[in-house]
Amino acid sequence: MSVSKDVKRITTHILKAMKDKNEKISMLTAYDYSMAKILDSAGIDILLVGDSASNVMAGHETTLPITLDQMIYHAASVVRGVKKAFVVVDLPFGSYQSNSNKALASAIRIMKESGAHGIKLEGGAEIAESVEKILSAGIPVMGHLGLTPQSIYKFGTYTVRAKEQEEAKKLKKDAKILDNLGCFGIVLEKIPAKLAKAVTKSVSVPTIGIGGGPDTDGQVLVTHDLLGITKEFQPRFLRRYMELHEDIKVAVEKYIVDVKAKDFPNKSEAY
Ligand code: KIV
Repeated sequence: MSVSKDVKRITTHILKAMKDKNEKISMLTAYDYSMAKILDSAGIDILLVGDSASNVMAGHETTLPITLDQMIYHAASVVRGVKKAFVVVDLPFGSYQSNSNKALASAIRIMKESGAHGIKLEGGAEIAESVEKILSAGIPVMGHLGLTPQSIYKFGTYTVRAKEQEEAKKLKKDAKILDNLGCFGIVLEKIPAKLAKAVTKSVSVPTIGIGGGPDTDGQVLVTHDLLGITKEFQPRFLRRYMELHEDIKVAVEKYIVDVKAKDFPNKSEAY
């Protein structure tokens, strides 16, 4: 029997129960009201207001430029479109790395000003103090390990992380730290499937994979990638369910033809 199907709201407790009952968790990104409403009505478990909004919504090359104010704007829009899904918001680059008091203040602003249900931040041992402080304020925290896009200039590339033993060992240790601190979940991005499976078994909270293979407790994708709106981005882990870029282009081309031909609007479309 499904744990999530008949509940009114997805909570951190429901997500934990889903892991324990081996029911996979579905998660997608959302940055605006209209899309959030569609994804929520389709039954998505978690909506992530990801800092990938920096790429997808604003056209930046990395996630680094997006600000806390901009994340709050996106998050508040998403929250207004949601009835059931659990809404998690990324703490953007620069809003938590310098010290744990700043991290807490940023998390509180997100919760207070957007109405979201939890926050996500990237890293392991380095951010433990911040995670602890945010959790002690009663704010649910999700971790993010593996490929952490806010550190892209340290990594140098977007290739698979933790292929070497030393990095894999640190990742396993970091996952344990986040689990023991009380995070409600951990995103595992672009790491070997075998490692994602081992981490998933070793922690008590749900792991959500993106490029982590089939054995994590759930999966997350960027919605615009899944829908084929961002057609240049084609990593191996991405399954496209639509080719919306093409469909939208064809529709707009038809509209332009109709306007130029004075075919739109016709009599029945006018007052
Ligand atoms: O910002 C984002 O979209 C993310 C996902 C890729 C997990 O962090």
